[in-house]
Amino acid sequence: MVNLDWSKLPFGYIPTNCNTRCYYKDGKWGDIEVSTSEYINMHMSATGLHYGQQAFEGLKAFRGKDGKVRVFRWEDNWERICFSCKGILMPELPKEKFKEALFKVIKENEEFIPPYGTGASLYIRPLVVGTGAKIGVSAAEEFLFLILVTPVGPYFPQGFKGVDIQIVRDADRAAPHGTGRYKIGGNYAASLASGARGAKEGYKTVLYLDACEKRYVDECGPANFFGIKGNSYVTPESSSILRSITNLSLCALAEDMGLKVERRKIPVEELAELDEAGACGTAAVITPIKSIQDRETGKVYTFANEPGPTSTKLYKRLQGIQYGDEADKFGWTTEVM
Ligand code: PLP
Ligand code: COI
Repeated sequence: MVNLDWSKLPFGYIPTNCNTRCYYKDGKWGDIEVSTSEYINMHMSATGLHYGQQAFEGLKAFRGKDGKVRVFRWEDNWERICFSCKGILMPELPKEKFKEALFKVIKENEEFIPPYGTGASLYIRPLVVGTGAKIGVSAAEEFLFLILVTPVGPYFPQGFKGVDIQIVRDADRAAPHGTGRYKIGGNYAASLASGARGAKEGYKTVLYLDACEKRYVDECGPANFFGIKGNSYVTPESSSILRSITNLSLCALAEDMGLKVERRKIPVEELAELDEAGACGTAAVITPIKSIQDRETGKVYTFANEPGPTSTKLYKRLQGIQYGDEADKFGWTTEVM
């Protein structure tokens, strides 16, 4: 195992041994290759560079107390990257190729998988990018699929503690019939300026509203939004947000815990009626929210300083399954080694 300060890892990039790659050419995907280069060689006119033809994923592998390494819900990430690829005219990846590239890159970087008990995990970032040259706006004919891994700590460095976030109304991340459902770089480019401004103003992340009416909660820059209201787990239904795999897992756990799951439009004013609020995602896990400031109206929705009881239970059960401490009754984890 490499010598890293595991319990103090940031959510950042740390070089590892290698990444796995696969090239699409002449209408088909090639073999999985292992590369030790951190760079990719592509044409200066590649569609990925000019027209944002690229999609990515984020998933994690966890080392358990028993020493085993488990990857969480990888088939869902494979399905979602295929959905994103289809959405922006890139070829879908055969499941077996995705699996081979995934398991290989985890195994080849075994010494970078953080020890159990450090709160860290191995972040896995698959990427598909149009590498073929085009000048007119159209899809490439050549693509690169790669998977890189890097050990990470919590996305929000305070860990499982409440954060202050901000509602922005003068920026949209994605439009109702746009690309918000796909995990593609353009959505994140659209969020950079408002996210950076929010950070400068003291907020860990920003919360976007539906782009059309600005009446309903959409999602955060890097995570879905959920609330606890009485005995219900509520989370936005919207055509412009990412279908978070963490959120789907929390819905299943909430139901299992006897809560009612409501996936529906959440009017902004309803934030005042929530007992708990949180951001959820692979990187964010569950990040409890302690206040939401509406930047334009000045209204502030406040929650308890400490994470709420239901969010805490959900967090413990999710992480329990991910680290292998709790029985995986939903069949979400796959042992890699
Ligand atoms: N929403 C956005 C915009 C994200 O970037 C992410 C992160 O992947 C999520 C939601 C959470 O999705 P998941 O739980 O599948 O990681
Ligand atoms: C993830 O949670 O995997 C994400 O992709 C969020 C962010 C780091 C972009």
